Amino acid sequence: MMMKKRYLAGWLLGAVLVVAVVLPVAAQPESILLNNEQYFVKKKRPPVAFPHAVHMDVLACTDCHHRYEKGENVLNEDALEEGNPEIRCGNCHNLNNRYGLQQAFHASCTGCHRQMVVDGSKKTGPRTCGGCHALK
Ligand code: HEC
Ligand code: HEC
Ligand code: HEC
Ligand code: HEC
Repeated sequence: MMMKKRYLAGWLLGAVLVVAVVLPVAAQPESILLNNEQYFVKKKRPPVAFPHAVHMDVLACTDCHHRYEKGENVLNEDALEEGNPEIRCGNCHNLNNRYGLQQAFHASCTGCHRQMVVDGSKKTGPRTCGGCHALK
């Protein structure tokens, strides 16, 4: 009887570990189509295909995702789960704060790609309008 219980406990622990290891990886999108029509009522440019996985490979999550408190990024990375609307840039960068959504995306995306050139990095991303605003 004791043996059986221990066996079951071991099996359950194993199942919990598998779930814990598999889920966070599966919960991050490889590629995201950025097309915030709800904020950009009259879109002037085509949507942007954002290769999320390429960025996750070379950067820290908190290089882009943040929640500021007194100027500090206090984001809990456990909150970075697919389907959590609070992660969305437009959740905070709407018309009511200093950075509107267009400015937030351009400062983040183009800003980083440019800074990497300044820093002498060979690998960077597009810096011209058509480089991002093009559906591939
Ligand atoms: C590094 C990528 C990148 C580059 C380079 C870039 N943009 Fe964007 N831009 C974005 C993203 C991402 C959005 C948000 C799109 C969305 O969510 O709908 C955006 C949004 C916009 C918007 C608001 C939405 C719309 O279509 O009306 C405009 C206008 C815009 N960009 C114009 C430009 C212009 C003009 C240039 C060149 C001077 C440019 N962008 C270069 C990534 C980029
Ligand atoms: C180069 C910047 C960048 C990096 C690095 C990055 N992300 Fe993202 N991530 C984004 C952008 C931009 C979006 C789209 C947000 C939106 O739709 O407003 C996004 C969306 C997401 C979403 C989807 C939210 C939804 O729509 O359901 C998850 C989950 C996520 N990121 C997790 C992560 C995790 C975990 C890491 C680190 C391993 C990471 N991200 C690294 C920029 C980045
Ligand atoms: C929980 C709310 C929130 C979310 C979600 C959010 N931001 Fe921000 N972001 C802020 C606040 C607050 C600031 C500081 C603004 C200020 O200084 O007035 C900021 C600042 C910025 C800045 C200025 C440079 C910096 O990092 O301080 C950029 C660029 C930016 N955000 C881009 C993004 C992008 C891209 C996303 C989506 C991946 C995003 N933000 C998601 C709240 C948010
Ligand atoms: C903090 C820095 C950083 C931010 C923010 C960032 N990028 Fe990038 N991006 C990179 C780097 C580094 C590369 C080159 C990755 C590589 O080739 O290994 C890259 C590459 C790319 C590429 C080319 C990918 C390929 O397969 O050749 C695209 C497209 C791109 N970024 C779009 C975006 C968009 C759209 C955003 C904003 C939503 C964004 N990036 C935000 C650093 C950044």
